[in-house]
Amino acid sequence: MLEVGKVKLLRELARKEEVDSSYMSRIVNLTTLAPEIGITGTLSLQGALAPPPDCRQTCAESLSLRCAAMRRPTKVREYDAEGITVTYDVKRCIHAEECVRGLGRVFDPSRRVWVDPTQANADEIAAVIRRCPTGALHFHRKDGGSAEPTPVQNEVRITRDGPLYLRGDLEIHTPTGVMKDTRASLCRCGASRNKPFCDKSHVSIAFPDTGAINAQTSAAELGAGALRVLPQKDGPCLIEGPLTLISGDGATTMYCGPKAWFCRCGHSGNKPFCDGSHAKVGFRDG
Ligand code: SF4
Ligand code: FES
Repeated sequence: MLEVGKVKLLRELARKEEVDSSYMSRIVNLTTLAPEIGITGTLSLQGALAPPPDCRQTCAESLSLRCAAMRRPTKVREYDAEGITVTYDVKRCIHAEECVRGLGRVFDPSRRVWVDPTQANADEIAAVIRRCPTGALHFHRKDGGSAEPTPVQNEVRITRDGPLYLRGDLEIHTPTGVMKDTRASLCRCGASRNKPFCDKSHVSIAFPDTGAINAQTSAAELGAGALRVLPQKDGPCLIEGPLTLISGDGATTMYCGPKAWFCRCGHSGNKPFCDGSHAKVGFRDG
């Protein structure tokens, strides 16, 4: 059974990481059922928690809080108004604040319920949501207004000292399934706890990269088609499909396709592309 001090520490970590406390209760209860099991390793909620399908079988891992099946549940909130519903994925917001700058009376972080779609008309709200670079915000029109169009051309923009911003016809493979989107921000510093997405950890680790493009070659012409985003286990992010790559200062563009491997460990000497350094530094994405 867990000592009272450890239970308290776990609950505190769970609260900070926004993990549902019922998952923590399961862990605590499990140690009561199987007292021979102890917590191993450093207490940390990296990757966060969701109940594995059979926790009695994976308990040794789950108690070390590294179980791959234990992912933080998606937190998508909905805000309703007459003509539009706004959805907000808490985990994908990195507070770039395009929304706040664009329509502060709807998106106001100082308010208890920070999104209030009754404060503007549906067209205004939809226009600002399309500026959200991470895909944290989306909308559903209930008044017959246009849905968000899928961009004809795919674009990957490198941000200085930060993530990759993707826009286009995206098919993103994540640990919890495949999702379609038009916008996403991908971790490239290696530190995100919500991989493959950015969670702003690049700020806390002071990830340094100008966002310059060093590659010498560029595809001759850009075809059409969707982008498949395929993070490789403990390695780079393979992106399949035609894309325009834009440097951090916006001055350089190059065309990539049909395949490109983007560094996501943060250590490549040829950023934004992978140069194999992930193996040398022992990058782990789990
Ligand atoms: S624009 Fe998107 S990423 Fe930026 S603060 Fe708003 S919801 Fe978050
Ligand atoms: S993922 Fe960073 S060098 Fe390969």
